[in-house]
Amino acid sequence: MSAVPVIAIDGTAASGKGTIARALAAKFGFDHLDTGALYRTVAALVLRAGGDPASREDALAVIPRFWSSTIPEAELRSAAVGEAASQVAVIAEVRAALFDLQTAFARHPPGGRGAVLDGRDIGTVICPDAPVKIFVTASVEERARRRWRELAALGSAKTHEMLIEEIRIRDARDGGRLAAPMKQAADAVMLDTTDLGIEAAVAAAEAIVRARLG
Ligand code: DC
Repeated sequence: MSAVPVIAIDGTAASGKGTIARALAAKFGFDHLDTGALYRTVAALVLRAGGDPASREDALAVIPRFWSSTIPEAELRSAAVGEAASQVAVIAEVRAALFDLQTAFARHPPGGRGAVLDGRDIGTVICPDAPVKIFVTASVEERARRRWRELAALGSAKTHEMLIEEIRIRDARDGGRLAAPMKQAADAVMLDTTDLGIEAAVAAAEAIVRARLG
């Protein structure tokens, strides 16, 4: 059992779950852990070492360095690292190596008031007892549109259609793997952000939290 309230946010790529998680943490004075960043860090280390993110051996070889590595934000958020993160996340031993860090954060967040964790398996595997679980998603077309806007601002030439395909592949890998697949926990509330702007999505998430935490 958690000593403090935990808000578990899971969901699909580019659904808005990270933005929602950060906003909820700020509103409730809780600490936030972006668990995708952990898998992204492992992936970035594998890519830097010239390894194959789908290789168990290459992924496990960088784990000892994970604890002392800080990857610059631009590299961490790159499309290549995101894709590689989805690949290293398939490997059960990688997930096991990152497990204790996540459960310890949920039990003992630095501020001591509460924790918001966002990822793919928070409500199902990392914090199955969390009192609040939200599964955030949106249509693949809308998620690709959001990605496209972000990437176009950075000068990327990727089309909406290319991004739809990339997101479909990512969803299939994250949801189809054997180890802790992305899925909505039985007691999670689904939040579809397809037709919601950021403010409306955060307000809807806040209402779910207030209803669950009382
Ligand atoms: O949320 P994100 O795009 O930063 O996550 C990158 C990848 O990391 C995602 O495609 C799958 C993996 N991941 C995971 O398997 N479990 C988590 N709790 C968080 C992320």
